[in-house]
This record gives sequence, C-alpha cells and structure tokens, in this order.
Amino acid sequence: MSIENDLELTKLYDSKYVLNVFNPTPIAFTRGKGVWLYGTDGRKYMDMIGGIAVNSLGHGDKELTTAIANQAKKLIHCCNYYMIPQRSELAFKLCNKSFADKVFFCNSGAEANEAAIKIARGYFYYKGHPEKNEIITAKMSFHGRTMATIAATGQEKFRTPFEPVVPGFKYVEYNSIEAIENAVDEKTCAVMLELIQGESGVHPADIEYIRKLKELCLNRGILLIFDEVQTGIGRTGRLFCYEHYKVVPDIMTLAKGLAGGVPIGAMLCTDEVASGMRPGDHGSTFGGNPLACTAGNVVMDKLNSPDSGIIANVNAVSSYLFEQLNALKSKYPQITDVRGKGLLIGIEFDGSIQAAGMKTLLMQNGFLVSAIGTSTIRIAPPLIITQREAAMFVTALNKILKKRK
Ligand SMILES: Cc1ncc(COP(=O)(O)O)c(C=O)c1O
Repeated sequence: MSIENDLELTKLYDSKYVLNVFNPTPIAFTRGKGVWLYGTDGRKYMDMIGGIAVNSLGHGDKELTTAIANQAKKLIHCCNYYMIPQRSELAFKLCNKSFADKVFFCNSGAEANEAAIKIARGYFYYKGHPEKNEIITAKMSFHGRTMATIAATGQEKFRTPFEPVVPGFKYVEYNSIEAIENAVDEKTCAVMLELIQGESGVHPADIEYIRKLKELCLNRGILLIFDEVQTGIGRTGRLFCYEHYKVVPDIMTLAKGLAGGVPIGAMLCTDEVASGMRPGDHGSTFGGNPLACTAGNVVMDKLNSPDSGIIANVNAVSSYLFEQLNALKSKYPQITDVRGKGLLIGIEFDGSIQAAGMKTLLMQNGFLVSAIGTSTIRIAPPLIITQREAAMFVTALNKILKKRK
C-alpha cells in the first residue's frame, strides 16, 4: 500500500519528521474534483477554503491539469538566463489586464512582497534618496513569513520570537487616513496595504480611506503598494480587488490563485517604479518557470474568457451567500458579523461559539473552512462553486446553529 492511502503511517512520519509549524488536522486527501475533496477516510468534503484562496479553478480542472501535464512532459524548468515564452506571455496578460507595465515572477506571496519592499526602497535609492526607506503598513495586516515580510506584518506575534527584525516599518490603525497622515514623514517611501485584511479576520478597507490614501500618496510622492496575494485573481468578484475602489497602486503583489495551485508569486509595477531595480538586483531560481507560468496562463485565460463566466459566477454566488448568511445572522444572535467581498467571506461569532469548535463541527459535517483567531471562520472556496453547492454549506451551518440553540 502506498503512503497516500495510509493515514496512520502519514501521521507517524508527519509527527516524527515534519517540522511542527502547522499542527495539521489528521485527514489527508487523495484527489479532488471541482469543490470536492476526497479523504482517505472514505468521506468527501466540500472545500470551502480552497487551499486558502488558491484553488481558483477548483480541483482537477481539465484545461489546467492537461496544460500542466503537457508542459511537464516538454519542459518543467529552465533557468532565467534564457527567454521563457510562457513567462513573457503571462507577464503580457497580467499587464494587459491591470495598471502595471512590468512583472517579476517568484514562488509565493511572501516572496512577491519581498520584491515589492525591495523595489520601493530601490526606487528612491536610484533617485538619489536612500534616506526614503520606511514603509507604513497597517496594524493586524499579514504580508508573509520571511524576515522582511514579518517586519511588514502589523502583528507582533509573528515577529517577537525572531527579533531583531528588518528595520524600516511603521504600523498604523487600518481604515484611518489620519493615522497614515500622522505617520508619514520625509523617510516614508511607501504605504503597503491589503484591501481586505484576510488573515486577521476578513476586514475590508473603506472606499473613502483608499481614495484619500491615493491622494495622500500622490501629494507626498509616496508609492502605494497593494498586497493582493489573497484578494487578487477574481477572488473578490473583479480580477483585482483594487478595481472595486477605482484606485490604482504603483505596485501590486499576487500569488495564491494565480496558477490555480501551482506555486507562483508575482510583483507588478509601473514603468516608473521599475527603475527601482537593475539587472542583478533581484532574482529567483524557480520564479517564472515554464510549468508555473503555463498554469498561470490557463487561469488568466479562463478568468478572462467571457464564455467561462467565472467572475460572473463569483458575483452571483457571493450575493447568494451574503444574503443567506445574513439571514442566518438575523436568526441566530451567535453570528455577530458577516463581511468580505466576492468569495472571501468572514463569519464572526459571539463568545458562545469558538471559531476552532465551529471549524471542527463543519468538518464533521463534511465542510472545510479556516478558523481565524477565536471568533471568525473564513471561507474562500474555488471560484467555480455553484449556488447549489453554496446552499449545502448554508444548510449545514444552519443545522449546526439550530442544534446549539
Ligand atoms: C495578504 C497576504 N500576503 C502575503 C501572504 C503570504 O503568502 P505566502 O504564504 O504564499 O508566502 C498571504 C498568505 O496568506 C496573504 O494572505
């Protein structure tokens, strides 16, 4: 028997040999189809978390898997010393559909944010202002786990054990333009924000806040960085979340859903900002490889094809979910808030329901979600989820809450 079907051996090896940073739930999956994951326990689960906003096209998408398999047979990796047509094509598609003129490819969200932080500093360095090297970020933000991105992350718990962290970051209250105005000084080079704070509980930024922030950045000559690692690639019902705000950044980072599950990250910027890096200043062995970019090209093609209707589906299922979840909120006072955009939704409970407990109950009922903090569960299902499937989730949540009444 292969280990793939042997949960006991997996658990043994995991506890013995895998660094314990995830504390995983003891379930493993052998395959997926659409929004469904099939467990080694013989059960099927609805993947309402989508690999944490990664499996944009769902599991086992035919075009994606065929393209990956074909590309793997031809060429998986080729180093950046040479031209990579799949990379050029994906860069073209991303620029064509966004504010950006240039793209740097890497392998994860944290790496994309590292590139954003470096290019923002490099931009002012090459302009003769190396003193402009501070970045303002928001309290309760999340930008990754590398040394610079934990420094950018406005949550002490991610930094404290690993101090000293990279200097040059200031944290301000989210959704407060005054807080940013007060923090900006002659050393500020950029403001870096998530348009929806995903990891700290799905908190969207206000429209007015982002519009005033753009004005402030223009007036003070500061770069604006949107971390769209979680919100990008159709997740919020637009290809990029910034489109809801009608505000363009100077730099944007992407990862998660961009290649439908194949590791990828991307830092996008304007031609003006691109002067902040010169040949040799940055790089990545794997970044922009033919396999990942092939996957990215399929995701971009499918999201942007009018025939696929994927983004329209995100909006339709999102409206349905918000309506239904708000109806549950009216029915059960234990639900205190339903928030988010598109298919990135946080459901907050009062003190009588613990997020971890609700996550377990939902899992026992066949639904996978993530728990954030003590009181919020987050859902970020594949963008192809149908209304019928979403209804099954709502029914399960209703059933659980009814039992607790
Ligand atoms: C907004 C945001 N930025 C960055 C990251 C880090 O991405 P990765 O885990 O791919 O490094 C995440 C991951 O959850 C995220 O949500």
